[in-house]
Order: sequence, then C-alpha cells, then structure tokens
Amino acid sequence: MDLESFVAGMPKTELHVHLEGTLERDLLMRLAAENGVDVPLPEGGFTDLTSFLAQYYPAMRALVTEDDFFELAWAYLLRAAEQSVVHAELFFDPQAHTGRGVPFPDVIGGYRRAIEKAQRELGVHADLILCFLRDLSAEHAMSTLMEALPYKAWIVGVGLDSDERGNPPAKFAAVFARAREEGFLLTMHCDIDQPGSIEHIRSALLDIAVDRIDHGTNIVEDPALVDLVRERGIGLTCCPISNGFVTDDMKAAEIVQLLRAGVKVTVSSDDPAYFGGYVTENLLALARAGDLSEADLVQLQRNALEVSWLAPFRRDRLL
Ligand code: HPA
Ligand code: ZN
Repeated sequence: MDLESFVAGMPKTELHVHLEGTLERDLLMRLAAENGVDVPLPEGGFTDLTSFLAQYYPAMRALVTEDDFFELAWAYLLRAAEQSVVHAELFFDPQAHTGRGVPFPDVIGGYRRAIEKAQRELGVHADLILCFLRDLSAEHAMSTLMEALPYKAWIVGVGLDSDERGNPPAKFAAVFARAREEGFLLTMHCDIDQPGSIEHIRSALLDIAVDRIDHGTNIVEDPALVDLVRERGIGLTCCPISNGFVTDDMKAAEIVQLLRAGVKVTVSSDDPAYFGGYVTENLLALARAGDLSEADLVQLQRNALEVSWLAPFRRDRLL
C-alpha cells in the first residue's frame, strides 16, 4: 500500500486544532456577507506567529450567530470524518467572540450542537478545550473561566493560546489552579522558537503542572525536561505544517528525535484553513520530511489516543 493510502485510512485522533483556525475562505466570505460585516480576507504570507495572529483574529468577525459557530464546527467535523478521525479535541477562543459582544452561550452552544450531530451522524467523537487568550489579562481569563462553569459538562479542559511574547505561563497560574480545582484538564501552547520558549516549557511543567503541552518541541534544548515528560507520559501536540509557516522549519528533526526518545509526541493540524493541511496532510508531511515508517505513524497515532482526554472506557476501546 502506498504511503498516502496508508495515512488516509488510518483511524486518527487529533488533539491540536483550533475551531476558529478551520474557517475556510468560502465559509468566511459567506458568513461575512450574511452578517453584513466587513472582514479583511486572510492573505497568507505569514512569517511568524505574530503575522499569522494579525490575520487570524480579524477574520473571526465573520462569526456572529449561534448558527455560524455550528456551521464552522460542522464543516470541520465533516472533514474530520473524511480523514478517518475518530476523536478530536477542539480548541476554541471564547474571548475572541465575547470581546465583540457575542454571548458565550451562543459560541459554545453552536459548537456543542455540531459535536452532538457528528457523534450521531458521522461516528466522530469530539470534545471542547477552552483556550484563554494570553495577550489579555489574567483577570479576563478568570472571568471567562467563571462564565464557562455552567457548561463544564461540555468542556474537557483548558488551554492557553495567542501571542506568547511577554505572556509567560506564570501570568495565568491562578487561573489554571482554579481550572484544576474545577476538574478541568490542563494544557497550554509553548510555541516554537519564541523568546523564552524553554523557560515557558519548564514553568508549564513545574509550576502549572500541565497534563499536555501544545507544540513544545523546543524541549529538546533541555534533556532533563525531555526525561521528565517521558517519565510523566506528558503528550506534546506537534503541528508540522504550522511550524513550517511560523518558523520556516517543520521541526521534523526535533519531532522525530522526541519520538525515538519515547516521548508521547502526536501530530495535529493547528489552523488548517490558514496553513493548508488537515491531519492527514500533516502526517504525510512529517513522514516525508522525517523518513518515517508505517510503524512510526502508527506509534504517533497510538500516542495521540494515549494522551487524549477521552474517558478510559472509550479510549481503551479505540486503542
Ligand atoms: N499559537 C498560538 N496561538 C494560536 C495558534 C498557535 O499555534 N493557533 C491559533 N492560535
Ligand atoms: Zn495552536
């Protein structure tokens, strides 16, 4: 069997995809027209995280009604089903919407409706992870957490995204401690090659005690931290195509090094509408750049299931 068919047919778990990052151009243009909002169309040409975020957040203004959030998540879940995704953990950025006056219940209600429909009609299972915007204040994050508490049953964990420069994990220590007390699992972005990347990874692990790290391949700079994540079985959700856009390097060598060292690295798509690849394309890109075997690809997918936040009875059925 050729590599494309093998990867296409593999049952997959996706742990790092931003729902707002799945907003494809056609849907963006249609929703902007329906809602009568003037939205700058993403032009691409990103050279780093900042230049990506500068196009990413303004495009979200196309999303206004509960139905819009439903449509966005449903379009992703249809694509996930086509790509043999059996389980996906979906980031969403409520503050990017509530900050424009969209009510929190409309955001999460639309997303949840799509997830329930996908479970019924497509056999795709999905959960939501609420991400705080790290360039906003810790107080704003805390009030967002409070707003989310009535919807706890729909949210498996919390994360941290947006601009990492000057916004270290410690800024959100109290918010993450409260989220833990409320029963949420914890992850956070430690983006590639940011100023202070390795200190942020250390702090996320030692001060915040995260359950996973999103990206985080800079961990190779500190062998003691590599040992720590291997011993604790902490997953790193890597996104090769996204890495290639924000740093000019897919970081295939680092991902493969971590895989060979027994770290639970996984492969996901991050913002596929912006970076042009869903999970299948990310696995293929890494397989080619890192010269991976079919057994390696299976290992990456086993890792994803093992470090997923599925309830054990569901995870064990899929493993
Ligand atoms: N890093 C930070 N913020 C983000 C990302 C990312 O990779 N994707 C979407 N928001
Ligand atoms: Zn991300």
